[in-house]
Amino acid sequence: MNRIRNFVIIAHIDHGKSTLADRFLELTNTIDKNKLEPQFLDRMNLERKHGITIKMHPCRMIYHSEIQNYKLETLNKLKIQNPKLQTNHLEFSVSDLEFAGSEFILNLIDTPGHVDFTYEVSRALAAVEGGILLVDGTQGIQAQTLTNLYAAQKQNLKIIGAINKIDLDIPDLDNKILELAELLNTDKNNISLVSAKTGIGVKELLERIVKEFPEPQQNINQPTRALIFDSHYDYYKGVIAYVKIVDGKIKPGDRFYLFATKTKGEVVDVGYFAPELKSQKELVSGEIGWVATGLKQPDLIRVGDTITVITDTNKPSTIIPLSGYREPQPMVYAGFYLSGTGNIKFNKTGQTQEFENFRQALLKLKLNDYALKFEPENSEILGRGYRLGFLGVLHLKIVQERLKEEYNLDLIVTNPTVSYKVYLRNKKEPLVINNPSDWPHDEVERVEEPWAKVEIVTPPQFLSQILRLINQSRGINIETNTLKDRLLINCELPLEETIKNFYDNLKSISSGYASMDYEISTYREGQLEKLEVILAGKKFESLSRIVTKDKIESEARDLALKLKELLPRQNYPVPIQIMGLGRIIARETIPALKKDVTGYLYGGDRTRKMKLWEKQKQGKKKLLEKANLEVPSEVFLKLFSKE
Ligand code: GTP
Repeated sequence: MNRIRNFVIIAHIDHGKSTLADRFLELTNTIDKNKLEPQFLDRMNLERKHGITIKMHPCRMIYHSEIQNYKLETLNKLKIQNPKLQTNHLEFSVSDLEFAGSEFILNLIDTPGHVDFTYEVSRALAAVEGGILLVDGTQGIQAQTLTNLYAAQKQNLKIIGAINKIDLDIPDLDNKILELAELLNTDKNNISLVSAKTGIGVKELLERIVKEFPEPQQNINQPTRALIFDSHYDYYKGVIAYVKIVDGKIKPGDRFYLFATKTKGEVVDVGYFAPELKSQKELVSGEIGWVATGLKQPDLIRVGDTITVITDTNKPSTIIPLSGYREPQPMVYAGFYLSGTGNIKFNKTGQTQEFENFRQALLKLKLNDYALKFEPENSEILGRGYRLGFLGVLHLKIVQERLKEEYNLDLIVTNPTVSYKVYLRNKKEPLVINNPSDWPHDEVERVEEPWAKVEIVTPPQFLSQILRLINQSRGINIETNTLKDRLLINCELPLEETIKNFYDNLKSISSGYASMDYEISTYREGQLEKLEVILAGKKFESLSRIVTKDKIESEARDLALKLKELLPRQNYPVPIQIMGLGRIIARETIPALKKDVTGYLYGGDRTRKMKLWEKQKQGKKKLLEKANLEVPSEVFLKLFSKE
């Protein structure tokens, strides 16, 4: 029987996970050398375009271990010499002898590094037993190194530390090794030194995987329980669930049951990741693979759910489902609208084919991006759309690009906002507001906004600029500690500030050397107010926004001026009013289009001209009274893209 090792590579962004995965694929002959493009597992177009991993990518490799041969030989010899041998003191256990040969199945899950995709990492961690913590030697430990390590330790994974990029000149390598060893509470000799680019030390690392990572528990004779850790939609085979088989086995033709949606079906096919889908006879306990469910309704499959197999003796009611994942809680919201929705004619049921395609696309995308949330919303400028919830702004951008690339949907996206809690007078439970247009008008007692715990790792020379940036961003509880030759700054920031420009500003003031990570911590009371826009007497909810009270005057003035610059002129003057705190805070007027009504009058009859001008003025006033101003979607886009 083959032996299995399930593991992940975790690291800060760009520390070389995908390149190390390439070397593993090469050394195990999983991918033909001629076909092996750099960062092979980053298959999505967007991943190749941005040079980052967005999705986790499982891949199975077959590895022939040298140590294992040696190990078996040694043990065989020892056992022959002394059949009653006590093996506790040996490096390897005699139970190894039960397994013939040196063949190992290595299931690697390559994971993303960016903070917005931490949820992908957490699901991958639940499917494996070991993790390689990879640190770019030229950079040392960074914010995401720490976050991913803590997450892996929470899952009780066995961790191997490795310093990457040793082909480069690394000035204080010894220090970097010590730093990582200290972090992992291990000896410096246990830190592997590798170059994922040239392959130095990679073979040795594979040997360590085989030797040090525990094998998964194999409970083949138990009733089947498989954890769904990801999924995607296949036109022919329906939803394909990515699974770790915890107990039992599953094969084509088996009747399955999904606990979360109480759905039954028949398994169409099963297999492993090569990394493309390869069929096999069955999947057994301990393995990572995929199950083609035949289900055509994407919302029947939930990531984190358990699949079981129904037999005469095995009824779902007698099985306890595996504990799933913590539900991801989106904190950044934005409206998505089909561009040109305003021109689309709705049929009797209020549906259009385009809108239905949009809905289907979201359902299918969610299969593959479980953190995505969506619900319908309307805008007086953009028509019908959806309000989408994300884990961060990069997540938002990637979803927008995936909808365009994979589903051919051109979308207008509104300004992202966070999720507020608004407490009304005499009501205990708060309203959760993900959209400024839902902000209640009166009876507001207090408002709470989400805060983030932020962790920054930086060389010491940037400390004062970073502290200034934290203060400008309303940061509190700032704590600074040393981490060998770098500083670790912990602080708390309102999420709104964290997601807006904080990361870009941090990178620019530290010339790219500081790294950050954050997790949403708690809600705190905030001095927040809604700014509303009234154009020609008509309120435009889609233009409203939530701002802090101390900045309300300047925000209102800026908004009025921007609207004046962007809105097209009409035949009548358009008053712009920005309301907040129960009054008009800023106002501007867009002058009417000029039409020379006196042009046909020759000579200088001033009174006739005056009369005509007065008539024109009255006419414009009437026009304004009857005006039903429309804001073009381009204005909307420009208004937000300018921020
Ligand atoms: P994300 O998926 O975005 O988190 O990145 P990653 O950790 O997968 O890093 P990736 O493998 O994409 O490598 C980032 C960059 O470092 C690429 O330009 C690689 O060519 C380079 N790189 C990776 N390993 C090495 C190495 O050992 N030596 C050198 N010199 N460069 C390396």
